[in-house]
Formats: sequence, C-alpha cells, structure tokens
Amino acid sequence: MAIYQIVEIGADVLREKAKIVSEITPNIEKLLENMADTMYAAEGIGLAAPQIGISKQVIVVNVGEGLVELINPAVVEQSEDQDVETEGCLSIPGVTGDVVRAARVRVQGLNRQGEAVDIQAEGLFARALQHEIDHLAGVLFVDKARKTYRK
Ligand code: NI
Repeated sequence: MAIYQIVEIGADVLREKAKIVSEITPNIEKLLENMADTMYAAEGIGLAAPQIGISKQVIVVNVGEGLVELINPAVVEQSEDQDVETEGCLSIPGVTGDVVRAARVRVQGLNRQGEAVDIQAEGLFARALQHEIDHLAGVLFVDKARKTYRK
C-alpha cells in the first residue's frame, strides 16, 4: 500500500490532457490500488491520476456504493436535466463551489481486466464521475462553478 502526495492547483499536470492507457500492465493495476488507498486516506470520493502527478486516463470513485475503477473513461451520454450541488476537490483544498452538471450520465471505459464497462449513473455517483473525467481533460470544478466559497 502506498499513499501518494496529492498535487494541488497550479501544477501543470492538472491542466494537461491525460494520456490514453494503451495496455493494462501490472503498473496500472498497482496505480489503481494506490489511487484508491490515497483517496481513502484523504477521505475523498474520487481521484484522477493527474491528481497524483500521473498524466494517464485512470480514475477511481467510491461514493459509498463500492469502489469503481475506470481506465480511459468517457461520458457517452448525458441527460438534458441538470442538478446543481456544492463540490470540492482534493487538489483545491479549502474551496468549494456550486457546479451545474448533468443529472444522469452513461460512462464507458475499461476495468482492470481490460473489459469494457458501461455504467448508468445518477445523483452523487454521476456527479463524481463527471468531476473525475473532467480532470482527465485538464478541467477543474472551479472552471465550471457558478459560485465558489473559501472555507
Ligand atoms: Ni477533483
């Protein structure tokens, strides 16, 4: 088990487009494990690889319904109806903001076995997936927030 240091806003890696994972090697499996450990240690509900300084398309999410690991994830469908909720990010400590997002999304990607996964998500799970997938495009919630608050 390894806990990575979380990279904070201002770091270039958070603004880069993360690279597609072309092959799921033991290093990627280790990355998934260490990312989950890091997320739990920081009491987050999601983490994207750029947040630990690794520019690869890998995310982990756990909103209390079990750990979801996704490689090369993408939102392939989203509902027209939207919700606004307050979000935070482990890379932007002390700041929260109200972000409008699709209420429901369909996400496709690969699991650690390299199998295609197809997820229908709503509520907090949908929001967390959108937030983490944004990280892979170099987008942070403060870019989208209609209002931000400093704790
Ligand atoms: Ni974040």
